[in-house]
Amino acid sequence: MYNIDIPELEPDRQYYFMNRCKELIYEKQVELNRPLTYCVTTFGCQMNAHDSEKLKGILEAIGYEEVDDESADFVIYNTCTVRENANQKLYGHLGLLKNYKKTKNPNMIIALCGCMMQETHVVETIRTKYPFVNIVFGTHNIYKLAELIYNNLTGEKRVIEILEKSTQTVEALPQKRKYSFKSGVNIMYGCNNFCSYCIVPYVRGREKSRKPEDILTEIRELARRGVKEVMLLGQNVNSYGKIYDYSDGKIVPMPEGDSITFPALLKKVCEIDGIERIRFMTSHPKDLSDELIKVMASEPKICKHLHLPVQSGSTDILAKMNRRYTKEGYLSLVDKIRQAMPDISLTTDIIVGFPGETEEDFLDTLDIVSKVKYDQAFTFIYSKRTGTPAASEVNQVPEDVVKDRFNRLLTLVNTISNERINRYSGQTKDILVEEINHQDSNLLTGRTEENITVHFEGDSSLIGDIIKVKLIECRGFYYIGERI
Ligand code: 5AD
Ligand code: SF4
Repeated sequence: MYNIDIPELEPDRQYYFMNRCKELIYEKQVELNRPLTYCVTTFGCQMNAHDSEKLKGILEAIGYEEVDDESADFVIYNTCTVRENANQKLYGHLGLLKNYKKTKNPNMIIALCGCMMQETHVVETIRTKYPFVNIVFGTHNIYKLAELIYNNLTGEKRVIEILEKSTQTVEALPQKRKYSFKSGVNIMYGCNNFCSYCIVPYVRGREKSRKPEDILTEIRELARRGVKEVMLLGQNVNSYGKIYDYSDGKIVPMPEGDSITFPALLKKVCEIDGIERIRFMTSHPKDLSDELIKVMASEPKICKHLHLPVQSGSTDILAKMNRRYTKEGYLSLVDKIRQAMPDISLTTDIIVGFPGETEEDFLDTLDIVSKVKYDQAFTFIYSKRTGTPAASEVNQVPEDVVKDRFNRLLTLVNTISNERINRYSGQTKDILVEEINHQDSNLLTGRTEENITVHFEGDSSLIGDIIKVKLIECRGFYYIGERI
């Protein structure tokens, strides 16, 4: 029997539950005479990918071993709900898991978390139609994974805990990073923009920035462990520092003059020895400041790549989307950025078929794409998300019209990206070597600061190094290069 009290404060409380789970997992290993395994499947964005690294950190601390097999002892889906097809995918997978649990591994614990779980109707469906799911939690209590597992292992058949909002930001929990030399770092959570099509503010909650000291401490520690590239993550990094979330749960606006801006934070990250490349995402055009452009242009460690979602080229549609910029405003912002950094790589997100989009509006989207000449554009068909203002618009665009526009946009976007990527032919670039090529093990794969993938011959000992590679042959979206 344990007679120590369960700590109330985090992260001590979670370390307590990790230790208790570890004992229970060990007992189970002895009983089954084999290691216990886990499998994390991630849907969606970089933010979710980074959350999964936190889930993995906790699972490994408990004693599970990672496998790439959905009949593992602990299977968890970190879900996305930004578009409807992401939801459909999950229900498909769940059918498969039910079968694995029955036929392959009756010990399986099945858990679901992430954005989709913040939707009441989804949790109700899981509760009633998917009784074999053991643990369900949302985006605000990922840090509690060990406690939820403990509750399940000690008798609670179904553990469902969805919080309306974050009550605290828990620092200093374990993480298992996919790469040893690059890492995502959350700088803020949530979003206050309420673009009219987007479900993110409802499932990720209000915007909160982490304290600069906490971020810098984490990055210094990453650098100490050999990380060279960091990706600063937030739904809208350009509004970093306006509202802080102190770890004791108090959410406070920063006093005027006291707050640190995103560019100021970037400058501090640049000062950290060992960090050689800094990326960030995502930037909302309405908040991108001159100060940021200046800092980006002057700091060699900041990658010359900007993901600047435009969503539409039509000023009318942008207003309906609640984006708070116009076509002309966006174009002049791009001019300003290119004046300061002529060779910068610009990427974007575009939605086709937003309610009420006319052919003329769509031509404006084609026009802005032709004018900006994006290095890469991620194109999406508008997806109606229940609860968002746009979902109640009566003027939905017919499916065949949307498909036709989507194809026309894709053709243009691809032609332009091909032209853009070709401009590097023959240049020698610094490449961060990431991995052995999946198709050909004689090749290594790495990325330029513009985020272009390059494959070249080399030895796996180079993984994690930044080396010079000449870009020889452009093959669509990637290059074949030669180490020099
Ligand atoms: N339908 C289609 N695309 C969407 N996105 C966000 N919400 C929707 C939606 N309801 C796209 C936006 C955003 C990207 C992450 O996903 O382009 O920038
Ligand atoms: Fe969604 Fe707009 Fe927030 Fe991006 S800025 S997460 S598109 S609401």
